[in-house]
Amino acid sequence: MNIILLGPPGAGKGTQARKLVDERDMVQLSTGDMLRAARSSGTEMGNKVAAIMDAGELVTDEIVIGLIEEQLTTTKAPGGFIFDGFPRTLGQADALGALLIKVGQTLDTVVEMAVDDAALVKRISGRFTCGSCGEVYHQDTKRPAKADACDECGANDFKHRADDNADALKVRLLEYYKKTSPLIGYYYAKDLLQSVDGLDSMDGVAASIKGALSTV
Ligand code: AP5
Repeated sequence: MNIILLGPPGAGKGTQARKLVDERDMVQLSTGDMLRAARSSGTEMGNKVAAIMDAGELVTDEIVIGLIEEQLTTTKAPGGFIFDGFPRTLGQADALGALLIKVGQTLDTVVEMAVDDAALVKRISGRFTCGSCGEVYHQDTKRPAKADACDECGANDFKHRADDNADALKVRLLEYYKKTSPLIGYYYAKDLLQSVDGLDSMDGVAASIKGALSTV
């Protein structure tokens, strides 16, 4: 099953994608994670996108479509792919459709995670991640069991993302409403859209997503 998790910054896409990976043998394709890996490896592409990401703007379609094409043609995913943070523009959505046809696959459903803006600000301002394994935490809603060790890998290397600040978040939200939210109508028209309440608890959202996937 190939699915898209669609929602604004901080909606919980990454959190839910990691649960699906654990439970269903799916592969998470997060363009945000791929771009962060590129920037920390110091490649020419990474250097090019760093300033764009820090400002909260979207990087070019050409770059992210290239990253997704590489993964789709080289990665085996027995349980299917979870597209997390991709597509983010109508151009990316068209490109994903064409790429899936090229590799003989289909898109099974798009799960929109609906969250209001005030909750997004709280979620993003309290987020921190394990620099070693990428596990996502929150200072109020998901703290590690031991303050100085990741629950998943035990590392003591917690990080805050450079774009998790008030100025960049405003830009990220505007980018979402201008360029990404039209995808809700795009996938509705293709009969692929399902919506879940992203304001629910993490387990509650996971249960709603499970319900949505069971209808496919
Ligand atoms: P990206 O990394 O994709 O960031 P994003 O879309 O802004 O989404 P986030 O990762 O911020 O949030 P999330 O929905 O995954 O929430 P999370 O699970 O962490 O993109 C970063 C940048 O890269 C972009 O700005 C752009 O520059 C570039 N980029 C990436 N893809 C691109 C593309 N396709 N095209 C162009 N540019 C691209 O949860 C957030 C917090 O809330 C966490 O602390 C979590 O613990 C907590 N939380 C989660 N769920 C709940 C819940 N149900 N209740 C309470 N707390 C919760």
